[in-house]
Amino acid sequence: MMTNKKAGILDSTLREGEQTPGVVFTTDQRIDIATRLSDTGVSMIEAGHPAVAPDVYEGIKGIVKLKKEGVIKPVIIAHSRAVKSDVETAASLDVDRIAIFYGVSDRHLAAKTHKTREQALSIIGEAVSFAKSQGVPVRFTPEDATRTDYDYLVSAIKTARDAGADRIGIADTVGIMWPLETRNLFQRLIHDVPGVEFDIHAHNDMGNAVANSLAAVDGGATIVHATVNGLGERVGITPTQVIAVALKYHLGLDVAKLDKLVELSALVEKYSGLPVSANFPITGDYAFVHKSGVHVAGILSNPETYEFMDPSLLNKGRNYVIDKYTGKHALKSRLDGMGILLNDEQLSDLLNRIKNNQSAKFFRDEELLEIAEEVTGKMLKPRPPEYIEGLVWVKCGSNVYTTSVTRRISIVNNVTEVMEVSGDYDIMVRIKARDPAQLNQVIEDIRSVKGVGSTLSSLVLKKM
Ligand code: COA
Ligand code: ZN
Repeated sequence: MMTNKKAGILDSTLREGEQTPGVVFTTDQRIDIATRLSDTGVSMIEAGHPAVAPDVYEGIKGIVKLKKEGVIKPVIIAHSRAVKSDVETAASLDVDRIAIFYGVSDRHLAAKTHKTREQALSIIGEAVSFAKSQGVPVRFTPEDATRTDYDYLVSAIKTARDAGADRIGIADTVGIMWPLETRNLFQRLIHDVPGVEFDIHAHNDMGNAVANSLAAVDGGATIVHATVNGLGERVGITPTQVIAVALKYHLGLDVAKLDKLVELSALVEKYSGLPVSANFPITGDYAFVHKSGVHVAGILSNPETYEFMDPSLLNKGRNYVIDKYTGKHALKSRLDGMGILLNDEQLSDLLNRIKNNQSAKFFRDEELLEIAEEVTGKMLKPRPPEYIEGLVWVKCGSNVYTTSVTRRISIVNNVTEVMEVSGDYDIMVRIKARDPAQLNQVIEDIRSVKGVGSTLSSLVLKKM
């Protein structure tokens, strides 16, 4: 796809993302996240607001060190209020850029800073000039820009520009924009304030952060603020993994390495302790898992029928589940995969039994085999004598919803049973394999499931 647009991602997981209730990153985690963001290829990393707390300061220090050593590539940004001491602290860290924010809507001026519009312009101008005098490039973010009188917004931006800011971050602070308005706003600002480039910072209060970010890029914004898993104040901002794929799909822009997004999401899920829902776009567990018979029949014939992109580009697989929504194409394909051939009548009988079983959430291969044996009255697959079984006890990580981990484990290949249990461990998993190597692989697969903390495994030696 060809486009004349250009855009990059500013990932703010370490700044906006840590403003999520309950989220606290350690210094090591901050450095790890920054390194992984760099590997993912984002353009800028907003590494934190150093005046907030010593660990944020230390984290940025560590990240700047790795930047200087060439390990971390993106532009490193420190956040700052329009306060001299904040700017000094940020500048002392030798970051690549300082982002100074100031609430410019009448609401913010009246309720927060108690300043007149004129006083605010002086504060903005002075803060930006002071930062520039420290020899560092400056972005100015007019906070609550989308609820600010347009002419005053332009004055605030011109003040920042004239004081030396070369980027302006338009913040839709409470997520009220309508995408068409967003595009118009950026087009107007670009026309009315030459000499600067614009960022979009879209909050997701009404679920429009991605749409508004795309609209802003269409209107001329060149940097999109985003956080991994959409973390941030309240319900957060544009998710990095979603905007990266959306910009690729709609505008053909390469703003991040798509095959790194799943592991990045898992890393931030672990460090933030905030589980990502299975139905989260792009990186959620169910993003490429199909269920209804009509859909699976389509997918089996051509995955494009129900997928807008090939999940292998994300290093992700596709799958489908068998339950009462299943149709004969899906069932036949699953049985074929198990090497079981049924005639049409047997297949319908099996499907009927599935549709009349209200208790099962998923039918795994093992269960399908059992029902197929009932239907045919035959032992369908001689169980191989070398068939081995293992048990894996799983302790979930802290702040993790056990049921979501159980659900994820239940779709791991070769898992035959999953139970939530009381005691030292949270989940017990029964697995089967044809040999020890495969058993090890299944255990590894379980260990890599999001939310799994520690595990204990044992081999079943004998069953009565
Ligand atoms: N520029 C300058 N001053 C600002 C400002 C801005 N962009 N935004 C708010 N302020 C002022 C307010 O007017 C208020 O000043 P006052 O104390 O004179 O009333 C103060 O900053 C904010 O109040 P409060 O947070 O209670 O002040 P504090 O001095 O105890 O703490 C921080 C300031 C920044 C250290 C603290 O709020 C913090 O750790 N915040 C986390 C980062 C943050 O809030 N980020 C928002 C990003 S959008
Ligand atoms: Zn924000």
